[in-house]
Amino acid sequence: MISIAIDGPSGAGKSTISKLSAKELNFIYVDTGALYRAIGYAAMQKKISCDEIEKVTELLNSISVRLVFNEKGEQRVMLSDEDVSDYIRTPEVSMMASAISALPIVREYLLDLQRNLAKTNNVIMDGRDIGTVVLPNAQIKIFLFASPEDRAKRRYDELCEKGMQVNYDDVLQDIITRDYNDSHRETAPLKPAENAIMVETTGNTLEQSVQKLLSIMKENIEKLK
Ligand code: DC
Repeated sequence: MISIAIDGPSGAGKSTISKLSAKELNFIYVDTGALYRAIGYAAMQKKISCDEIEKVTELLNSISVRLVFNEKGEQRVMLSDEDVSDYIRTPEVSMMASAISALPIVREYLLDLQRNLAKTNNVIMDGRDIGTVVLPNAQIKIFLFASPEDRAKRRYDELCEKGMQVNYDDVLQDIITRDYNDSHRETAPLKPAENAIMVETTGNTLEQSVQKLLSIMKENIEKLK
């Protein structure tokens, strides 16, 4: 099996680029952020805050989180028996996901699920700690980055396209806060793996970034043969 780990901060284009590249390479695309978002969403529903560790533990014991892939290979995230994929992209869930993902118990809870997917499939898996913690033996590791302003613009356009009422400055502030949370937590912080290929997407069109990443992936897959 081949595992490609794609890590990087929010809004660097990881998910869109990974999804398109996975289609081209015929790999499964695993968006691990959706798992943290589903748990954040579940906590919000139950009005649990991240500092109530006992309640978070109880919550984890009472739910199941799974990723399923439809016939087109698209990922859906199931919270117990409910498909919550369409509810987890709001700015509120983003913040809650970032906060709850700092808890070691939450990270531990999701570890095997992520590793098992890579045992049985060729995967492009995106997240914050895939190359460092989840799949340290991934054959190809990429760290995508871009300026906060570039990432905020991209996120802002995405949210507007989905019909959400958002303000660019709020989106930029959210990105800066999440970057800080994600890279300063003690467990599995956002950071490049030692052997990651660093790729900057600032100023690139989506098409340019996809082409750049695809050529890096193809070249490295060739080397594995
Ligand atoms: O990739 P995303 O924006 O959907 O992720 C939402 C949050 O989940 C992000 O702020 C940090 C957390 N996350 C994480 O800690 N580790 C991962 N592998 C993926 C996401």
